Amino acid sequence: MEKRAALILAAGKGTRMHSDKPKVLQKILGSPMLACVYQALQPVFGSDILTLVGHRADLVKASFPDQRFVLQSEQLGTGHALACALPVLREQGYSHVMVVNGDVPLLTENLLSRFLDEARGSELAFASVKLADAGAYGRVVRKDGQIAIVEAKDYDERLYGQPTGEINVGLYWLSLELAEKLLPRLRPSAKSGEYYITDLVALALEAGARVSAIVLDSDQRLLGVNSPKELSAMEEFLRQEIVQQLLAKGVICHAPDLVRVGPLAEVEAGSELTGPCEIYGQSHIASGAEIASHCFIEDSSLARGARIHSFSHLSGAQVGEGALVGPYARLRPGAVLEEDSHVGNFVELKKARLGRGAKANHLSYLGDASIGQGTNIGAGTITCNYDGKNKHRTEIGEQAFIGSNTALVAPVSVGAGALVGAGSTITHDVPANNLSVARAKQKNYAQRLVKTDNA
Ligand code: UD1
Ligand code: CA
Repeated sequence: MEKRAALILAAGKGTRMHSDKPKVLQKILGSPMLACVYQALQPVFGSDILTLVGHRADLVKASFPDQRFVLQSEQLGTGHALACALPVLREQGYSHVMVVNGDVPLLTENLLSRFLDEARGSELAFASVKLADAGAYGRVVRKDGQIAIVEAKDYDERLYGQPTGEINVGLYWLSLELAEKLLPRLRPSAKSGEYYITDLVALALEAGARVSAIVLDSDQRLLGVNSPKELSAMEEFLRQEIVQQLLAKGVICHAPDLVRVGPLAEVEAGSELTGPCEIYGQSHIASGAEIASHCFIEDSSLARGARIHSFSHLSGAQVGEGALVGPYARLRPGAVLEEDSHVGNFVELKKARLGRGAKANHLSYLGDASIGQGTNIGAGTITCNYDGKNKHRTEIGEQAFIGSNTALVAPVSVGAGALVGAGSTITHDVPANNLSVARAKQKNYAQRLVKTDNA
């Protein structure tokens, strides 16, 4: 019985990116390229996905803790990469593998399914597209009923004729049996010294195996990213496509050329965005939410009627129905704004919950805190949550009033209905409904003390 897995090749360094970061972690609209590949693969392969890592493997693994990895400790080419994974695939009972380069971020579930449908029955299949210019991609050569993939640097026009523009996209289907038979026959390229997975095509034909070269017509989407220029071209292609989809489904976009929405984000019809803005990661923007210009939003959710004013930065935040944020607000991971709460300018929240209708409208830091419903946090209030070693919590009850410029030295609590006088430094709990004032008493002197020269 056929049991198939997907293998993502992600061990390479990506030398042409000129970056320390492994290439597959380079971001496209806020998401690492590899996350985009997983998104396309998961609906088809579920958990039967293995990722081959090598260059800075720890970094790649740490970015995707739920995935399964195989190590290629030396990067000796894509053929060697497959050879490293083969024993693991066997051990786990797979009979076939779909191999895909990790640097093809715009791959879609739909393209994959089409490829797999057409590959059915083959022992080896690969996907190609036709381009006006074959660039640096591996070229597909079809001659006298034979097919081969010839890498750009090995391409000799005298041998193969003018390139036709048909290129290998780096998507393969293989029976493990055939791969096991052919991999020992791979020889390193004379030019680069690497073992090429692409050489398996000619070897398979020689061995009389059933080989299919499948031409997929969706060109741009299937191209690999190798340089900063290709990365930005790909990103712009995807950006325009996503914005067009949003407009078509009923998202209002002002300055749509400046709206950047990532591939994993979900923006509902009936929401309103103004560019420039960025909405990345696993964000969810509900119908009726509004995002003004110059906002950055990642891994955050906005409920109906939430409004984010300009220059706000949200990461890992939840904004409830009708809540108002900004301008110039910063919501860090764990910020939860319940219905109709307000966070105003120069207010930062981290791991802090603002209850229904509560307000922190100006110049505050609220960290490791919970604030009850209807409570008002005065301008300049700070939760002093860090003692140099540990973080401590501040709990504020419902309908409390914290006067301006209060320092709440955690761990500390302020009970429901309590009122804290402006300028207080609160180091002890304040019971419910108490008035607490913790500041030096004001003294007024009848005469100003003026120092004169002859005094
Ligand atoms: C490869 C193909 C080329 C194709 C192109 C499509 C080969 C030899 N060439 O070229 O025919 O047109 O993709 O984009 O395969 N990798 C490893 N281990 C290694 C080397 C690479 O895991 O030892 C991974 C890389 O991380 C990358 C993928 O394999 O994700 C492809 O490698 P890359 O160096 O980008 O190959 P290309 O030169 O683009
Ligand atoms: Ca590549």
